[in-house]
Parts: sequence; structure tokens; C-alpha cells
Amino acid sequence: TTFDLVIVNAIAVTACDVFPCSISVKDGKIAAIASQGFSQEELAGVEVIDAEGAYVMPGGIDAHVHLCQDLQTGPHGLGGRCADDFASGSMSAAAGGTTTMITFACQTRSEEDASLLSVVERYDARAKETGSYIDYAYHVIIVRCDEDVLERELPILSGPRWGISTCKLFMTYDSQRLGDSDLLTVMHAAAQHGITPLVHAENGDMISWLTDKLEAKGMLAPIYHAWSRPPIVQDEATNRAIAIAKLACTPFLFVHVGSSEAMAHIRRAQTQGWPVYAETCPQYLCLTYNDLKRFHSPTCFENSKMVCSPPPPPDESESERLYTGLANGTFTVFSSDHCPFRYDDRHGKPTGILEHEESKRGGDCVSKEASAVSLDQLVRTKTGAFRFIPNGIPGVETRLSLLFTNGVCAGRITLQRFVELTSTNVAKLYGLYPKKGSLMPGADADFVIWHPQETFSPFTLSNDMLHHNVDYTPYEGMRMLNWPRYTIVRGHVVWANGSLATGAPLGRYQKRGPNVLSSDWKKRGGGPAKQHPAPWLFE
Ligand code: URP
Ligand code: ZN
Ligand code: ZN
Ligand code: ZN
Repeated sequence: TTFDLVIVNAIAVTACDVFPCSISVKDGKIAAIASQGFSQEELAGVEVIDAEGAYVMPGGIDAHVHLCQDLQTGPHGLGGRCADDFASGSMSAAAGGTTTMITFACQTRSEEDASLLSVVERYDARAKETGSYIDYAYHVIIVRCDEDVLERELPILSGPRWGISTCKLFMTYDSQRLGDSDLLTVMHAAAQHGITPLVHAENGDMISWLTDKLEAKGMLAPIYHAWSRPPIVQDEATNRAIAIAKLACTPFLFVHVGSSEAMAHIRRAQTQGWPVYAETCPQYLCLTYNDLKRFHSPTCFENSKMVCSPPPPPDESESERLYTGLANGTFTVFSSDHCPFRYDDRHGKPTGILEHEESKRGGDCVSKEASAVSLDQLVRTKTGAFRFIPNGIPGVETRLSLLFTNGVCAGRITLQRFVELTSTNVAKLYGLYPKKGSLMPGADADFVIWHPQETFSPFTLSNDMLHHNVDYTPYEGMRMLNWPRYTIVRGHVVWANGSLATGAPLGRYQKRGPNVLSSDWKKRGGGPAKQHPAPWLFE
């Protein structure tokens, strides 16, 4: 037999083109893209998928997925434990059309985490415990600025052993944030070793100040989590991070941008020729402050299900401005920020009640009274405080369909832009291209195949259709206009017609290279030589 798999009657979609074709796969890679079908001879004994005229795209790459993270990272850290491990997280991803995910190996400030290499090794062991059903890679979260460690370990991280070409840095969360000076040092060190920083840009001091003010007024309900983080919190930190990155002289990306004013700062820097990239996520397009008041009464703790940072925008006009940023190229990538916390788990959202009860008693151990009552009774009778609610919502499975429905079908973005945002740009920025994110012969045979659009019956999303280990979806009740019919990882069908493949997890760890989106930056006219705020640094 010549091929292992062929896909016929496809409409291929890449970041550039939409064209009818057939695709053949051999040894997990794309063998050929043909404008006609295959002969009976060629198909003898070969697995054939008839796409029936549906779109076939490079598999989704979700570059922002939290798995196996115990977010209790310090005395004042946010509690909570991720409900998904690599097995459940990757199954959920596969069922939603994603073939590669990048998750976070998170350093803490404890001494055992002083070495980034040991942080990554321990996290890698978690992945190996269960295996993954899709391909995967890691970003490393750096919360300590230890120049010796950076100097020694960043080259090893970005080198052949790990191929980790990104780090995430925080400007908020007391247990994780870096001050401006540390941001400069870490971003500069990252740039020296071809590592692209990802920045969580919220002004931590503004958040703390507003949180104290809200609490003094007794405003503790989940909606006030959003009030403690009005858009200005992102705007200021975004503007500041751009200045810091200019001085540190590095390409970098803003994760989870949810403010149009922050987006405007990014747009301006891009227009000036700075290699600044940005990510947005479904929660900034599909949810608003109203969703933080969705359940029963505004004070009901159940609204904690929608708490994430940055929060959803105040209203739909803001989401509409973010859609414009997706269409016009200000946003480079579209990720889920899947951060799975259960509602029926003391280590999930109810941490927001337990820690509040504990703090009222001034104790340093969750109060006996609170832990004695049943979880059900706890969430019905206690209101908690937004300060203690673990931040994050699930969404690895719904990412592609939400953007397909509300972006492509609604006419806000083109099919090609959809592929660019959900796969191709992600691969380019994070050093996986063209192995991932493309339909070139020789690329990994990673595909998402949709249902034929004309015959697809729209459906209403409910959590029982999903495969994550979370007991709710923020997108419950939303109308979906298509859904991935097949998800194929390196030629293996992992999701087909509503069923996950059973069997051993086949996902492989992906070593990554440097960001290729800005590989020309240092040579370009607008690059650092002309624009750098302190050119003498280069002399
Ligand atoms: O609320 C969120 N986004 N939680 C996940 C952690 C982060 O900052 O991405
Ligand atoms: Zn973040
Ligand atoms: Zn995140
Ligand atoms: Zn405690």
C-alpha cells in the first residue's frame, strides 16, 4: 500500500487559501495534496475518510492550557487545583478539534523550585503519568528573578533536550508577579536565548487597592471580581510592558487580552514596527459582566463559575471591538486559557468560600466548621469572597467551535484568518512551524475536519457533551453552528463522529524552535538599531 490514510472530497483551508482537494498521509506526515481524487488501485487497503465537501484545516493548536497545576503557589497565592490532567485535558482538546496543546510548567517561590529545569522535569513526569491523546509542549512560568539560574538554565531549556522557547511572566498575583526591574532582567535574558516571553498584563497594585476598597464596602460577590479589575488595570500594565520590552529589546506576546484600550496600545506599537503579539480568548468574545450575575441572585456563589482573570469585558460593544482586533491582525493567536476548576470540589471554586471562612476566623487552617458541612450545603448557604475564588474557566474543547460560529459563520473573520489564529500563527510564534500549523507535504498529518456546513444542524451546547473533568461550561446554552467531525493527530484518528478513539495515548512531546514571526525584526529598518530607547546598550 502506498498510503496509510487518505481524505477525499475535502475543502482544504490554510492561512492563505481555500481549495478543493484530496490529501494523502504516509507515516504520520502529509504525503501529497492532490486536486483530484485517487484511483481505485491507490486506495486499495487504505483507510479513507470522505470529508463530503467539508472544510479540512491544520489541526487546532491551543497554546494556553492549564493542566495538572496546583495553583496554591504561596501563602497569599490563589488556591485551587486543576481538575484536568494530561489524559482528560487532551481528550477534551481532541473532541474540540485541537491536535497540539502547550501547557504550563509553573515555578513557585519555594526553594525546591529554584531550578527551572527541575520544575520542568517534575511537570514532565505528570504528563508521563497518564500520557496525552494529542501532541503537547510546555511554556515555563518564571516567578523568581535569579540571574545565575537564568544564565545557566535558559540555554538548556531552549536547547535540544527540552526545546522550550517561551516563558510566561506575571505582572499581578502576589505569589507570582515580577516588578519592573525583574521584568527587564528576565525579558532581556529570555531574548538572549531565543525565548519569547508571554506577559500577563494586569496592574497588581491597582487590583489589590480596588479589592480592599470593595471588601470595605462589603462587596464580596463574584461580580466584584470583575469590578476589582476594570479595563484600566490591563491598559496600564499593557502600556508599561510594551515600554519594558522595548528596553529589554525582545519580541513578546500579551496573553489573554480582554480590553480594547490595551489592544489599542498593542496596535500602536505594532504600527511602529515593534514585534509585539497578542492573544485573546473565547471568554472575551462570548461572555460579559452579565455572565457573572447569571445564576439566581448576583450574590449567589454559583457565579464564581465565570470568574477568570482578566475578567470578561463589561458589555458586548467591548467584545465587538475585540473581534475587530481578530480581523485586522492585532491579535496573533486565539487560545482557550483552559483553567479547569470544578464547582463540586473543595479544591475547585468552593475554595472561595473555605478560604473566606478561614480568614474571618483569622486561622491558618480551613475552619473546622466550614469543612464539617457538606459541600452542597456550603455552596448554598455561604457566599464566599471573590478574593479567594480560584481564577479560571474551562474551554479547551469549545475554543474552535465558538470562534467558527461567532467569527466565521457570523462574517466577522474569514476562514483563512480562522486557521491563522487557531493554528498557523500559533505554530510560527511558538516554534512549531511548518511541522505543525500547515498543510504542506512533509508536515505532520494533524487535521480538523468539520461537518459539511449545509447539512449541519445547529445545536445547543451543554456540558454533558464535553469531555473535560469540569462539572460546568461557561458556554452552556450557546448555539453552535458547526463542530469538528474528525480530529486527526499524525495520521491517527482520535475523534470521529462524536466518539473518542479508545486505546493508548499517542500524543508526543514537541520540542520547539524560536519564534519565526519576527525572525526578520533585527534586520528590518524599524528594528532596535534605529528605535531602541538606549542605543548605547548595543555599543
Ligand atoms: O483566570 C485565569 N486566566 N486563570 C489562569 C491563570 C492565568 O493567569 O492565565
Ligand atoms: Zn495569565
Ligand atoms: Zn492562563
Ligand atoms: Zn488554610
